[in-house]
Amino acid sequence: MKHLIDPTDLTIGEISEIIALAEDIIANREKYSEVCRGKKLATLFYEPSTRTRLSFTAAMMELGGNVLGFADAKSSSVSKGETVQDTVRVINCFADIIAMRHKVEGAPLAATEVSRTPIINAGDGSHSHPTQTMTDLLTIKRELGTLNNLTIGLVGDLKYGRTVHSLIKAMTRYENTKFILIAPPELALPDYIKHDVCDRYGVEYRESNDIESVIGDVDILYMTRVQQERFTDLDEYERVKDCFVLDAEKMRFAKERMAVLHPLPRVNEIAIDVDSDPRAAYFRQVENGKFVRMALILKLLEWQKSGDKEFTQHGTAMNCKCPNPLCISNLEPVRPRFEHSEGVVRCVYCESQAE
Ligand code: CP
Repeated sequence: MKHLIDPTDLTIGEISEIIALAEDIIANREKYSEVCRGKKLATLFYEPSTRTRLSFTAAMMELGGNVLGFADAKSSSVSKGETVQDTVRVINCFADIIAMRHKVEGAPLAATEVSRTPIINAGDGSHSHPTQTMTDLLTIKRELGTLNNLTIGLVGDLKYGRTVHSLIKAMTRYENTKFILIAPPELALPDYIKHDVCDRYGVEYRESNDIESVIGDVDILYMTRVQQERFTDLDEYERVKDCFVLDAEKMRFAKERMAVLHPLPRVNEIAIDVDSDPRAAYFRQVENGKFVRMALILKLLEWQKSGDKEFTQHGTAMNCKCPNPLCISNLEPVRPRFEHSEGVVRCVYCESQAE
């Protein structure tokens, strides 16, 4: 059984296989139109989504399979108090593969502990969003032709932005990646990503206070939304929400061959005058998301059938409490598990440092 909970659950070789399959699907759509006939994907979305849920739905439909699930936890028995693990035990009776989005960090990982079918993390709180990362990697490959030797500017909400965390984890494994971090101090990249991920793999990063001074250096400018829903203090949100805005004027200083990505939705951070620039790749990125999810569904089902791939459950159960109130281990009856990494003990569900 193989699940996709974190980008590091896939080796570089497996990522290449998925990207190559997505490219083949793009070139030969008809060939894949019946390959999932009789298979069912369950989309369990406990948090709002447009792209991820609908691209999973479109992906399974284009493979000839069917889709069931919920788009709002309030319409399911979750509203009566059913746990994530019990919900998954039930859905295992109905579906062959599950895509789950949850506002609680670590919920998809908790699901893997009981599931008989592959679980795909479709975004868990501020933690991780590996299928967006697969979308980003396919987009970078298609826009620039390579995943090596790239300087990536990451702009906006680097603290709560799960797409940023996952993209950094994935890109540190490619040759000569460099990051430029552009965020207000309140939304700076968490230390665990800087130290445990970038420093550990010897990846160069620097911080900047503005887009203008660095836009000419980047191959990828990865814009993100400041996410109002992650703030407990709305005054703080108001202070930082419009810190960094990309517009056509700033694009004048960008390289001729570069790409602007955004996981979307956007609010104000990319002015609409950028949309007509050929380097604005964010709507092409959305379509890539469908193709890469088609490839991912196919690969996970194939790996399950062949039985030659395993998912590693990290960490050991400890009598220790995760300090993150939004971690599944504090909200549902899930046994806290921790692992040692670079001299610190981290919760396996949300990667918070144990107290
Ligand atoms: N990029 C992304 O996750 O978008 P949705 O929240 O609309 O799924």
